[in-house]
Amino acid sequence: MSNPASPPAVGVLDQGPELTFPPGFLWGAATAAYQIEGAAAEGGRTPSIWDTFSHTAGRTVAGHTGDVACDHYHRMPDDVRLMAELGLKSYRFSVSWPRVQPGGTGAANQEGLDFYRRLVDELLGHGIEPWLTLYHWDLPQPLEDAGGWPARDTAARFADYAQLVADALGDRVKYWTTLNEPWCSAFLGYGSGVHAPGRSDGGDAVRAGHHLMLGHGLAVQALRASRPQAQLGITLNLYPVTPASDAAGDVDAARRIDGLANRFFLDPVLGGAYPADLTADLRQVSDFGHVRDGDLTIISSPLDVVGINYYSRHVVAAPVPGAEPEAYWRSPSCWPGSEDVRFVTRGVPVTDMDWEIDAPGLVETLERVHRDYTDLPLYVTENGSAFVDAVVDGQVDDPDRLAYFDAHLRAAHAAISAGVPLKGYFAWSLMDNFEWAWGYTKRFGMVHVDYDSQVRIPKSSARWYAEVIRRNGLAAQ
Ligand code: FCB
Repeated sequence: MSNPASPPAVGVLDQGPELTFPPGFLWGAATAAYQIEGAAAEGGRTPSIWDTFSHTAGRTVAGHTGDVACDHYHRMPDDVRLMAELGLKSYRFSVSWPRVQPGGTGAANQEGLDFYRRLVDELLGHGIEPWLTLYHWDLPQPLEDAGGWPARDTAARFADYAQLVADALGDRVKYWTTLNEPWCSAFLGYGSGVHAPGRSDGGDAVRAGHHLMLGHGLAVQALRASRPQAQLGITLNLYPVTPASDAAGDVDAARRIDGLANRFFLDPVLGGAYPADLTADLRQVSDFGHVRDGDLTIISSPLDVVGINYYSRHVVAAPVPGAEPEAYWRSPSCWPGSEDVRFVTRGVPVTDMDWEIDAPGLVETLERVHRDYTDLPLYVTENGSAFVDAVVDGQVDDPDRLAYFDAHLRAAHAAISAGVPLKGYFAWSLMDNFEWAWGYTKRFGMVHVDYDSQVRIPKSSARWYAEVIRRNGLAAQ
């Protein structure tokens, strides 16, 4: 029941009995280094593939770059204070590889490490649990020049970098995510080329995916050896994939896309093998000759937690000869070997990314991972939505984003009630930021950022979320 002494900021919470989350549920918000930090050439930081990509004409909307972004590098203490005001229990951030190990090899850059030390200390000082992601897409440019993720050596370089960060921060950070969304790094970065480094070769994408997972496994082994108390995990972006009809061709299309989007990573990381149907689908693209004996044992090194980023569902149908494929991450070459599968839109409400809003898909995803793959604790490490916002009289009212969070938190609660060991939820994102190829044109934040003045304004969704955290729950509908 809502507490009349402190009414919720937004009326949505006012009806029905409370949906309470388990004690200790980890309520958080997430960001990533390149999306918020700015200070791209300060403190010894050198370029990553995202600096190069965003500075290349035609790669991002309006040529936007992360040079300044939210200027978080200079405003970090204020941003942590804002997190504390919202009552966040945890903050998921990423470390910029080229800030702490310029060039991607060799000695650590103390100035870079000091920034994260200060961030972590600031968080701990406010009682906020730091959740550190090692790789949120910013590969040091020299490692790309040496072959990037399609090259096996990059996996070893990543493990060295992980060790260096663990040496510096392992005494004060408990939760470690190796990779954020390796599907995007591999298939958007090296397949469709809509993300950095902007290469387009299906075989490279498949090799990149493997070496990302190898790097993950090597990093887990290194961290496990040196920081036995650490809680180690990976974050995968997962989608329910639904056939548009019961027709055999549609069902097969769904099997293919599920293989590429979900099982390409879930099966090796949590089961130690690539699915046979997936390698068969990819036969024209890759012979998997890059997979060496022992790789899958490394890749499936035991974890403590599994992170899931959930945004939407894919609905797919059998190819129709001559049909036009859709753009961006549905573009054909991010589905090597299955380029002609059609992505169907159902006419349900979408966000400003054109992603269909599908909260039940979160329940399906969580239940599937728990049922088919693991008993480990699960965390939603990202979930959120872009909508167009307006600042009116210094306020930002964002009912659509609030409703998206509300629906997905109800889904998260339903999954817990059904027995899924979901232990936490991170809203994407704490604040508006550089949305990759979309630059600053898509706003995912609970906090509005004016990119000229860098003024932050908590939107109504942020005030609502603060109330959810305070109550550890929300009202049933
Ligand atoms: C995820 C990314 C994150 C952000 C959201 C909208 O794929 O991990 O950085 O771009 O999408």
